[in-house]
Amino acid sequence: MSANQQKKVRVFSGIQPSGQIHLGNYLGAIRGWVENQDKKDNIFCIVDLHAITTPQNPIELKKQTEILTTLLFASGLNPDKNTIFIQSQVPAHSEACWILNCITPIGWLERMTQFKDKSSNKKTVSAGLLDYPVLMAADILIYDTQEVPVGEDQKQHVELARDISQRFNNIYGETFVTPQPVIPSTGARIMGLNDPTVKMSKTFSHIKGHSVGILDSPDEILKSFKKATTDSGNEIQFSEDPSKAGVNNLLTIFKVITNKNNSQTEKHFSNARGYGDLKAEVAEVVIQEFKPIREKYQMLKNDQPELNKLINKGSEIAQSISSVKLSEMKNKIGFIN
Ligand code: AMP
Ligand code: TRP
Repeated sequence: MSANQQKKVRVFSGIQPSGQIHLGNYLGAIRGWVENQDKKDNIFCIVDLHAITTPQNPIELKKQTEILTTLLFASGLNPDKNTIFIQSQVPAHSEACWILNCITPIGWLERMTQFKDKSSNKKTVSAGLLDYPVLMAADILIYDTQEVPVGEDQKQHVELARDISQRFNNIYGETFVTPQPVIPSTGARIMGLNDPTVKMSKTFSHIKGHSVGILDSPDEILKSFKKATTDSGNEIQFSEDPSKAGVNNLLTIFKVITNKNNSQTEKHFSNARGYGDLKAEVAEVVIQEFKPIREKYQMLKNDQPELNKLINKGSEIAQSISSVKLSEMKNKIGFIN
């Protein structure tokens, strides 16, 4: 790594290969990663170890991991500027997680709202699900991460990583950088098209019309938007009114993709003839945004040797950075090297 790269702020983010990657993931995470790739020293991790905290079909997990990895490269993340790798290929994550487990009070984990949500009404809940945020802390801390770009829903987990880093530093001496969550100011929360009161989520990707996949065909994208839930009015304006959440969501998607502000967005639709026009135009900007990604995806998918080369390169870099921190952790806690 060059001296120049060293000086850049280290950013780490993770994304689960546990279902179809949708417009919410793209606008809330991937797009921002691509935009910032020149400014920061970025590490992006496909977190398959996190995915198995809830039951996964092995064939499906493998398929989704391959799709997601290919999609990240296809989305415009340059492998020469970013480290992109698969979590389970770098054992330091699991090892560091175990060590951090042993200094993390269970009470800290039991109060995580995502754990409460994911575990409620379940017959059995894995220990891994409770431990999920410690693995996430390990992901972040073993790279001396300074910034963690995440959606609002993950902020509590990054705050826990901060607490864990400070606790380890207090017990064993200065070891970890304390990371900062970075929440995108726009597009932080894209809602479901069928139900704009819930976040667009991989969990609901089986529900028709809920989400738009990055690899959906233009036809499918248009259909999903045409069926999007709106209201009985015809005003195309941003609104806090819960009954206008559908229109608000469509305007938000348009605004984020076209880099407009609220008033420019409203002005753009001032001559629209109702929600039909709005839906068609939003669908069109989404189709155009995803078009080059779909094309690059197809190209890479058909070039397995190139894809393998990119994946191996990412693992090697991740391995070389994280192994240094893991050794330091082992030393400090009294393991024989
Ligand atoms: P997940 O789908 O939960 O693995 O999330 C992957 C990344 O996408 C995280 O940074 C999330 O915060 C972000 N994300 C997921 N769903 C949405 C959404 N509906 N709107 C905005 N960002 C999202
Ligand atoms: N838990 C995150 C999510 O579901 C994914 C993730 C795992 C992550 N490890 C991370 C995000 C480290 C940021 C940093 O969205």
